[in-house]
Amino acid sequence: MISNSLPIDAALRTRARRVIPGGMYGHLNVARLPEGYPQFFARAEGATLWDVDGNSYVDFMCAYGPMVLGYGNREVEAAADVQRKLGDVLTGPSERLVELAEKLVGMVAHADWALLQRNGTDATTLCVVIARAATRKRKILVARGAYHGSAPWCTPHPTGTTAEDKVHLVPYDYNDIASLQAAAQSVEGDIAGVIASAFKHDYGKDQELPRAEFAHAVRQMSPSSARDRRRSARRTASSRRRLPAGALSTSAIRPSTAPARPRPVRATRSSPPAFRAVHRPATATSPRRAPARAFLG
Ligand SMILES: Cc1ncc(COP(=O)(O)O)c(C=O)c1O
Repeated sequence: MISNSLPIDAALRTRARRVIPGGMYGHLNVARLPEGYPQFFARAEGATLWDVDGNSYVDFMCAYGPMVLGYGNREVEAAADVQRKLGDVLTGPSERLVELAEKLVGMVAHADWALLQRNGTDATTLCVVIARAATRKRKILVARGAYHGSAPWCTPHPTGTTAEDKVHLVPYDYNDIASLQAAAQSVEGDIAGVIASAFKHDYGKDQELPRAEFAHAVRQMSPSSARDRRRSARRTASSRRRLPAGALSTSAIRPSTAPARPRPVRATRSSPPAFRAVHRPATATSPRRAPARAFLG
């Protein structure tokens, strides 16, 4: 329900405009949503969200993604409480980070490593950096109209960016193999990667799943395809990975992975003691001991 009268929200917007750029920035700015949609919220529980004026809403937005289990989920909150009591932000990571990385790598069939990012922009930007580092090439093929974040290389808003920020991007049309191939041919020999969202969801347009032929065409462009197929066969044979997960399974493709490296061996609680010893903290006499200044960056 959209309310016509949101006096507390209106007053907060006036205050915000004085101290927050645009009254609110990024996708949390509701200026493009229908009039009467609240900018400020007070609390949430389960699937319900209350604005600062006391109106309640069923939140189909799920906080733009993360609240898939609902607000204040008891199990999630209990686990977070336990962890908070041990310390919230520590100087270094805890065992939980390794556990989470192990879980993610175990769930995602093509993943060798897990690297956590704060948001989508950071993730896509890092992917582009990794693609360029791995291939030592420059060009990234990007679907026209696709949104990959707000960094200068990908933002659809040119203000504050330069033409040079996007000079190595080459456009193609999502799901259009001919346009993908034409884009690739135009920069042959200098392609670092193809970036494509798991499904087409350009702002204000109808959504579209990737066509299987298109996904395969993208995959075939990767020089690492053959190597990945070999690794995939090995993994299936050894049953170390449980499931191909996520939107990629709709097009039955596997994304390209980083260049082959010796796979790090992981210690687990069930690892034999001899194995775990390799991961014991370094001793004073160990050459692996880092000098104290390393912690200061
Ligand atoms: C495909 C895709 N990549 C990147 C982003 C950027 O994510 P964020 O807004 O968290 O930076 C989005 C956000 O909508 C997205 O849909």
